[in-house]
Formats: sequence, C-alpha cells, structure tokens
Amino acid sequence: MKSKVFSGRNIVFAGFELIAAAVPLAGSVAQDAALTEEQVTQGRQLFGANACGACHTLADGGGAGAVGPSLDGNAKLDVALVTERITKGQGVMPAFGAMMDEAQIQLLARYVVHAKK
Ligand code: HEC
Repeated sequence: MKSKVFSGRNIVFAGFELIAAAVPLAGSVAQDAALTEEQVTQGRQLFGANACGACHTLADGGGAGAVGPSLDGNAKLDVALVTERITKGQGVMPAFGAMMDEAQIQLLARYVVHAKK
C-alpha cells in the first residue's frame, strides 16, 4: 500500500517536471535568440535520430550525405526555410512533420542554422 502511494506521487512529480522542461523549449520561439548549450546538444541529437546526415552534409551533426544540398556553406538557409523543409519535405526529401512535435522541429531548424558553417 505504501509503495503505491509513493509511486503515485512520483508520477505527479514527473508530470510537473515534464511541464517545467517544456517551458524553455516553447519559450525558445524567439528565433534569433542564441541557443543554449543544451539546446545545441538536443538539436544535434534530433539531427542524428532523424538521419538527416544520411542525405546532408553538416559537419557539426556528423552528416556527410550528398543526396540533398549541403547544409554547411548553404547561405540560403534560415529558420523559416529549414522548418518548412523538415515539416513538409520536398522532392526526394521526406516530410518529418509527423515524426517530431512542433517544438522539436523548431529546435532542429534553429540548430541547423546555428551549426552550419
Ligand atoms: C532521403 C534523403 C533526405 C533526408 C533523410 C533528409 N533530406 Fe533534407 N533534402 C533532401 C533533398 C533531396 C533536398 C532538396 C529538395 C529539393 O529542393 O528538391 C533536401 C532539402 C533540404 C533543405 C533545403 C536545402 C536547400 O538548399 O534548399 C533543408 C534545410 C533540409 N533538407 C534539411 C533536412 C533535415 C534537417 C533533415 C532531417 C530531419 C533532412 N533534411 C532529411 C534529402 C533529404
């Protein structure tokens, strides 16, 4: 009995943590604000987890693909364009809109613009 009450509390607590963790991400919509080190790490992880580097070169994200345009050295990229491509895809590039939530897409787009050389 005691352990049940305890685990219930843990669940509630975990819920609060989730909300607390979501706040800085949602608040990061200010696109030109610098990314924190943690956000850069998260963006790099999203880039890897979604295999963007299989098709794109982005040295910081470990990508060396040549199916799509290089992201390094790509002057055309801004957060709006990258967000649109990730969400909807284009041509050979698949849409990732259903694979990530909006905050993740936003973070990944900001990471790409931040990390490209
Ligand atoms: C299967 C290969 C493939 C994967 C995986 C892929 N892309 Fe692409 N990507 C492409 C191709 C091809 C294009 C060019 C599309 C076009 O303009 O016709 C492209 C275009 C882009 C562009 C626009 C570049 C430009 O110069 O127009 C961005 C930004 C981009 N991709 C980011 C990403 C990100 C971030 C991921 C991971 C979530 C990703 N891509 C995954 C193939 C891929």
